[in-house]
Amino acid sequence: MKSMCAVIPAAGKGTRLHPLTYAVPKELLPLGACPTIQHVVHELAATGIGEIIVVTSDGKEALQQHFDVLLEHNHLNVSLRYVIQDRQRGLGDAVRTAREAVAERAFAVALGDAVIVGSSPGELLSRMSGLFERYSADAVVAVQQVKPADTSRYGIVAPAQTTDEGVRLAGLVEKPGPEHAPSNLAICGRYLFKPDVFDYLERLQPGAGGELQLTDALEALVQDGGVVWACPLEAPERRLDVGTVDSYYQAVRDMLEIEKQGRP
Ligand code: G1P
Repeated sequence: MKSMCAVIPAAGKGTRLHPLTYAVPKELLPLGACPTIQHVVHELAATGIGEIIVVTSDGKEALQQHFDVLLEHNHLNVSLRYVIQDRQRGLGDAVRTAREAVAERAFAVALGDAVIVGSSPGELLSRMSGLFERYSADAVVAVQQVKPADTSRYGIVAPAQTTDEGVRLAGLVEKPGPEHAPSNLAICGRYLFKPDVFDYLERLQPGAGGELQLTDALEALVQDGGVVWACPLEAPERRLDVGTVDSYYQAVRDMLEIEKQGRP
């Protein structure tokens, strides 16, 4: 994945975690021995990606401060740059903000509040990269199984064809209720894209929650004949989610256990 760069969207206001996130960006909330986003940066660096673009927003300067100090003390084999999203219009808009910085490169997107555990850092992204190359895909998303009652919290994929390696997609829908969900496979915070996705991001209209949704850009891409695959998490791989107070404290307990046992 050496020729790719990565985008970490980290501009959100963390409203589901208020008041914890009034002054502390949710991506800096501690998860074991380091802040959440540092796990994400290590995962990306482990794949050989050399440049990470962090999409941040006013009031979240502590994110850059954290990495500036980290870099004074530690070698990190990846360079970081920052772009500002001026208004929170949704995940699709946050990724679009990175267009100039990404330029014509294929790129990964790793959500700054989602940490993958259960395999060595970077293993999931490497499997995704395998699909991306083998099928000359326009995009690959990582997916996990969720309970029917939880589909309305995620982007849900519609499978067209399932193989041993992954699932070719016929469509995607953002936060459908269980009665409208085309499967129980939910996007879990890791994506690979060809740069053409930016054209779809520029054309986004408000979707679920009135926001510009990354999932809607993927759906438009598929409906235009684009090749999009999903890469399922493989047990014991799972995602730790710093999204709500409950999921955050569950993630903290899980990470402490993982660190104690010295597992990935
Ligand atoms: C975002 C995406 C959604 C994805 C989820 C994973 O939603 O829009 O498709 O399933 O991240 O965490 P959010 O959690 O920002 O509402």
